Amino acid sequence: MERAAQHGPSAWQEPTPGTHTCLGPPSPNIGPRPKSDRADLELHHAVEDRPTAHHPYLVRVHSFHCQRAILLLHFLRAPMSLASMPWTLVCGTLGMLLLWHAARLLDRLWWHPRRLERALRAQGLRGTSYRFLIGDVNDYERRNKEARSRSIPLRCHDIAPHVAPLLHDIVREHGKVCISWYGPYLKVTISDPDLTKEVMSNKFGHFEKLQFPALSRLLAGGLATYEGEKWVMHRRILNPAFQLEKLKLMLPAFSTCCEELVSKWVQSLGSDGTCEVDVCPELQRLTGDVISRTAFGSNYLEGTRIFQLQSEQAERLLARIKKIVIPGYLSLPTKNNRRMKAINNEIESILLSLIGKRMQAMQEGENTKDDLLGLMLESNMRDIDENGQSITGMTIKEIVEECKLFYFAGTETTSILLTWTMIVLSMHPEWQDRAREEVLGLFGKNKLVYEGFSQLKTVTMILYEVLRLYPPAVAFIRKTYKEMDIGGITYPAGVLIELPVLLIHHDPDIWGDDVHEFKPERFADGISKASKNPGAFLPFGWGPRICIGQQFALLEAKMALCMILQHFEFGLAQSYTHAVDNRKLLHPMHGAQIKLRAI
Ligand code: HEM
Repeated sequence: MERAAQHGPSAWQEPTPGTHTCLGPPSPNIGPRPKSDRADLELHHAVEDRPTAHHPYLVRVHSFHCQRAILLLHFLRAPMSLASMPWTLVCGTLGMLLLWHAARLLDRLWWHPRRLERALRAQGLRGTSYRFLIGDVNDYERRNKEARSRSIPLRCHDIAPHVAPLLHDIVREHGKVCISWYGPYLKVTISDPDLTKEVMSNKFGHFEKLQFPALSRLLAGGLATYEGEKWVMHRRILNPAFQLEKLKLMLPAFSTCCEELVSKWVQSLGSDGTCEVDVCPELQRLTGDVISRTAFGSNYLEGTRIFQLQSEQAERLLARIKKIVIPGYLSLPTKNNRRMKAINNEIESILLSLIGKRMQAMQEGENTKDDLLGLMLESNMRDIDENGQSITGMTIKEIVEECKLFYFAGTETTSILLTWTMIVLSMHPEWQDRAREEVLGLFGKNKLVYEGFSQLKTVTMILYEVLRLYPPAVAFIRKTYKEMDIGGITYPAGVLIELPVLLIHHDPDIWGDDVHEFKPERFADGISKASKNPGAFLPFGWGPRICIGQQFALLEAKMALCMILQHFEFGLAQSYTHAVDNRKLLHPMHGAQIKLRAI
């Protein structure tokens, strides 16, 4: 893996020419400076080639290092009293430090963004201009607020102006590769799928993911947050657990969870055979249950507890997302911070105990390898055996993080897919009927078996079209780790690259003039033929970091949708308002109230 040591931001930048730095007033104990001292100053002034300041203790300097050296010389040579010397030294050093930090800050917040902007504009990129410190943040917030207050007409899927109104306009005005600002951070949005793929296919970590240590610590770290060799090792160990033949073994768990959901809905039916349900939380519980059963098998109840705690944790973190960026905020002993710490401790202690029991059972020869935890532990042991003792595999702490990540990455994404599918099929009952026909034709009202899943053509097309119109993750962000070339433009290190999945999925140049219509038939000949660009369908990402759980998610979604279609007809309830919310993932803003009718 080609990665050199991390370079920090550029260190000291020269102060503005003509800066005067006061080294402090002459101390009454110092007396006239000796000749040698004056000689130093003269030497320095000669180098400066400019007249010195009128005060003997005011010197004009060119660089911080030069200043420090001269400061030191003066103190070493001047016949000062021992008592006054350290104070002058301390004040001088503090002054220097303050100046140094102020200059660094100014560089970070003004000169550096302006330099980046100039470099990119010189290569032909356009976009919004930098505004000190805030960039486009205020505009983003204002436009998002406006958009959130408006609902969308039913059956309308042109959601990009509601989800990302400002970005939508910036791309329209300035082109598919354009500049905007997250505060002082320059962001280049790339909505050309060929260039997007170039970024996502890079195997060397030159486009790194952004790190959010507080979120990783309290919610989940694991595979999704690693880079470099650590990511390679974890991906290698986790891959076998997500292969199709292993997923087949998990189908009974999927089926049990879906049956429970359906029978709960059946029990809610009124005397007229109908009921109204907000399917959002219901489907979220379903996908949480599925992870609990598929990850921990017989220890599913402990898994359910982890899911409850993780959901609470995510809510608490989201509610304070703006404060979390304040350094040290999470260490404050507030009520909420204490609760989040307690939640994290409880999750970790449940997981540690589960992993401990499982490892012991495996050592005693029990077969506990049909769930994600068992498969992960088995693969970990095999990796250590195959790669020799120098490779340590995943530590227990890392296995804990991977288990937490399964919940974080795998529950809400899949439940959102199912939720939008039910909403969209309620808006397009003709497609609901076609899907039901297919399901009843293949399975009747019987148990679903794996062999039937590969023949589900209409259901698969529907799921893809929903993922195109309503991708749960609407954009990915990367950062250039070093100077990089993308499509003939050279990007300096430290530029944010935004890959706007939603805009690409809603681009008429790629998908045709009917881009905003729900037309599952565009996927009739597979993903690569659905648009003018085979790489324009990105709900699961692309390249080496593509979602490891995509087969898992699609199998789970098919199982749930087929079972729902087998038992119910559904439509939008009167109370449903079509609106989108993208504060976490792409949710229906006011819930998904669906009217179910038993069939
Ligand atoms: C509809 C459901 C899902 C969607 C739309 C989805 C989407 C994604 C996307 C877009 C990424 C790549 C993010 C990036 O490159 O920045 C990703 C990564 C990941 N997903 Fe999913 N995901 C889904 C379900 C799942 C499930 C069910 C699991 C696990 C049980 C899972 C586990 C992961 C993991 C571990 C990664 C990180 C992979 C890596 O960095 O190597 N996802 N997912």
